[in-house]
Amino acid sequence: MATPKTLQVGIVDVQCGEGVTIVQPSNVYGCELAEQVFVGPFVEVQKHTRIGARTKVQSHTFVCEYVSIGEDCFIGHGVMFANDMFKSGKPDPNSDNWGRIVLGDRVTVGSNATILAVSICDDAVIGAGSVVTKDITQPGIYAGNPAKLLRAL
Ligand SMILES: CC(C)(COP(=O)(O)OP(=O)(O)OC[C@H]1O[C@@H](n2cnc3c(N)ncnc32)[C@H](O)[C@@H]1OP(=O)(O)O)[C@@H](O)C(=O)NCCC(=O)NCCS
Repeated sequence: MATPKTLQVGIVDVQCGEGVTIVQPSNVYGCELAEQVFVGPFVEVQKHTRIGARTKVQSHTFVCEYVSIGEDCFIGHGVMFANDMFKSGKPDPNSDNWGRIVLGDRVTVGSNATILAVSICDDAVIGAGSVVTKDITQPGIYAGNPAKLLRAL
């Protein structure tokens, strides 16, 4: 019987502002968390990602590489960010080819939503379980798969 290689979750190489909270266990590495950011338990935040001041990231969320989240956002439970779009029909090992994900300020994302390689403007709301496949450029409430405007704000 072979012995598996095991790795530990951890908080590694994170640039933090004042008053950041990270609930353990979480796996947070190579990223920047501005002041008063809250990261709930069982969250992964990968490298080259930045989370703006006072933003809350609730439990079980996955924030992949090259994500920029603005200030005063609320990222609900179990939200998935995904930016390797499998353009060549399989996972792309070259991160230069991955898309980039940008959320503005005061963006609210409901539980279990999936955010693909898109930009979302300030003051947008994404409904629970939605899949955001296209850029959102106007403040409003968006929901469904693919996410569509329910109503403007
Ligand atoms: C998207 C949301 C904000 C919309 O709220 P709302 O503006 O009050 O919308 P309504 O409840 O009036 O629903 C309007 C329509 O959108 C649909 N809808 C609402 N939420 C939806 C969702 N998440 N996904 C798909 N459709 C949705 C409704 O079924 C309704 O459809 P109909 O017009 O065909 O009947 C809300 O439903 C939601 O998903 N909130 C997220 C909650 C959450 O995850 N909280 C996390 C707490 S930790």
